[in-house]
Amino acid sequence: MDGITPQAGTDHVTITRHDKGVVLVRMNRFDKKNALTGAMYDTMRGVIENAAAEGTRAVVFAGGPGVFTSGNDIADFMQRSAGGASAGSPAGDFIRALATVEVPMIAAVDGLAIGIGTTMVLHMDLAYASPAAMFRMPFVDLGLVPEAASSLLLPRLAGMKKATEYLMLAEPFGANEAAEMGLVNAVVSSEEIEAKAMAMATKLASKPPIALAHSRRLMRKGAEEIRARMEEEGALFAELLKGDEAKQAFMAFMTRK
Ligand code: COA
Repeated sequence: MDGITPQAGTDHVTITRHDKGVVLVRMNRFDKKNALTGAMYDTMRGVIENAAAEGTRAVVFAGGPGVFTSGNDIADFMQRSAGGASAGSPAGDFIRALATVEVPMIAAVDGLAIGIGTTMVLHMDLAYASPAAMFRMPFVDLGLVPEAASSLLLPRLAGMKKATEYLMLAEPFGANEAAEMGLVNAVVSSEEIEAKAMAMATKLASKPPIALAHSRRLMRKGAEEIRARMEEEGALFAELLKGDEAKQAFMAFMTRK
């Protein structure tokens, strides 16, 4: 790809600026399956929050082969659980930013997309999944509640019965199912998925900016309802994070080997 300029990021999130103001955000904490730390959330939030001010025209989120992200770092959950978590957190700030970002976001999901790995895709303007994609939202199994307004958006997208399978039973689903329900636009091979996402980002970034921005805002009417649901979920999430069900689930994960 032409015109690549590296930007500051954490060691685990690489940001590169490409032609036409397209920014690629790559999660690359591969040894931990891209489990997200506070610093990673903060870096990603910075990109989308400052996008308009920095002349960014579209943001592409990608991981690496086999993994998009395994969701929030469970060690971080444990710390917050022990430390008396409040409603405020880097994850919560990132989630709120997803609802207010002013530029198109595109996801290339080539592998595991757990927890926020799936719920963030609900907020993308375009998304692609490879045959390796595996989406899963195990919030209830972790003693928690859905986040990122997924309790509102997923029943709308998939219907209540399917949403129950995904959000309450925590059943995984693959790329074809994601495409059928409209969570992603298309299934694209692992070899081509990132180029596809970048090409679509470049295409969007080449449109007349004012017309595109107004159109996007019109299509996203209802953002207030989404933000209100995020707050409701966030308060419950923070409360349950301190509860015994969550503590037991985190401990079971950390001691499973
Ligand atoms: N938080 C913290 N560490 C995580 C993690 C997470 N969400 N997901 C994976 N890791 C770590 C593992 O602890 C392991 O670390 P180690 O090598 O130091 O032991 C490493 O990443 C590799 O994971 P591993 O479980 O060995 O790989 P796997 O291929 O067998 O399974 C997953 C991958 C993602 C299916 C499994 O790790 C998992 O279920 N993770 C938790 C997902 C989750 O519940 N996320 C929260 C959603 S709200």
